[in-house]
Amino acid sequence: VKPVTLTVNGRPVTAEVEPRTSLADYLREGEGLTGTNLGCEHGVCGACTIEIDGVPARSCITLAVACEGASVRTIEGFAEDPVMEQLRQAFTAEHALQCGYCTPECW
Ligand code: FES
Repeated sequence: VKPVTLTVNGRPVTAEVEPRTSLADYLREGEGLTGTNLGCEHGVCGACTIEIDGVPARSCITLAVACEGASVRTIEGFAEDPVMEQLRQAFTAEHALQCGYCTPECW
């Protein structure tokens, strides 16, 4: 078990994680942020995309311990973003889904 300190959606967190724990698993199971979804778990589908230090990244192929000191933003971190809300509504209205995980019922 390794300690990791990072910021998640603007909130500083410190956790003890197994070195092999993916960032996606840590966010879902450790932080309860289930808006980060898993599809392929091989870095292909993009269902697990989050931001690390403002850059989109696939959390299924990122180790949580590699995020020491990083700022991570999940879809929940965009909850108050009016542009993201417009985008979400447009996607829903037009059925513009990639995998279906991003439908409003998911989170
Ligand atoms: S789950 Fe498919 S890219 Fe991460």
